[in-house]
Amino acid sequence: MDCRNSHLSPIGIFDSGYGGLTVLKEVIKLLPEYDYVYLGDNARNPYGTRSFDVVYDYTREAVRRLIEMGCELVILACNTASAKALRSIQQNDLPRWGGNRRVLGVIRPSVESIADISVNKHVGILGTRGTVISESYLMEAEKLYGNEHLHISQLACPMLVPLVESNELTGEGTEYFVKKYIEQLFEKDGEIDTIVLACTHYPLLKDVILKYTPIGVKVVEQGQIVAESLKDYLKRHPEMDRKLSKGSSVSYYTTEKAELFDGMAGVFMGSGVEAKEIKI
Ligand code: DGL
Repeated sequence: MDCRNSHLSPIGIFDSGYGGLTVLKEVIKLLPEYDYVYLGDNARNPYGTRSFDVVYDYTREAVRRLIEMGCELVILACNTASAKALRSIQQNDLPRWGGNRRVLGVIRPSVESIADISVNKHVGILGTRGTVISESYLMEAEKLYGNEHLHISQLACPMLVPLVESNELTGEGTEYFVKKYIEQLFEKDGEIDTIVLACTHYPLLKDVILKYTPIGVKVVEQGQIVAESLKDYLKRHPEMDRKLSKGSSVSYYTTEKAELFDGMAGVFMGSGVEAKEIKI
C-alpha cells in the first residue's frame, strides 16, 4: 500500500527480516481494522551481529522509507533495532524530518509487562548478541523501576536465528542449542520465574524452549505484549489514531527477492504472503 496521496496513514512495521511477522500477526489479531505496511530488510539481515552504527544506519534508512510510503506511525518489531537505533531515531532524526510522526519499539512494553508477570521479579532475557550487549533491557528496567525491583539476567543465543531462518524448528541440533542456552541462563540465576523471548524469531522455537524450561517458569512472547501496548497507545493518542487508515489491508515489502520472502514468511504467518521487492 502506498498512501502518499491519501490523508490517512497505514501503520509501518519494521524488522530486519521475517521475524517481525511474529509481532505483526498478533497486532493484526488485536487491531484488525487498521492498514499495515510490513518492511523486512532481508537483504541486509541479520542485524543481531552488527555494530551499533550499522544497525542505526540501516534502521534509520528503513524508517525513512516507511515514512516516504506514508506511514505516520512505525513500530520497530526488531529487538536489535529497538535496542540500538530507537532512541537515536526518536531524538535525532524524527525532529529533523519534521511532522508529528512516531516510532515505537518493543523493549519498553516488554519490560513493563514482565514487571507484572514475574512474581519474584527474577527475569531471564534471551536475545541476539546485539540486544544483550546494548543492555537496553537493564537500562529500561532501571529507568522505569530503579535498580532494585527487577533482577534481570541476559543471555545471547546466536545460534537460534540461523536455525529458525533455516526452518530447523525441531530436531536434535535445535534441541541441543536450546537446552544449552536454557541451562546457561539458569546458571546465571536459578530463581528466574519468567523468561522473555526477546528476539522476533524465538516464538517459533517456543515448544522446544518449553521442553527444557523448568516447570512453573513462564515463557513470554512479545507479539501480544506489543499488540496490547499499541492498542493502549492509540487510545491515549487519539490525534495519531485519527491519522490512521482503517481498511484492514496488509502490504509486505522486502529488500531481498520477493520469492525468497514469500516462502519463508509463510512459515512465520502460517499462511501465504505476497511481498514486493523495494530498495531503501
Ligand atoms: N529481528 C532480530 C531481533 O529481534 C533478529 C534477527 C536479526 O538478527 O536480524 O533481534
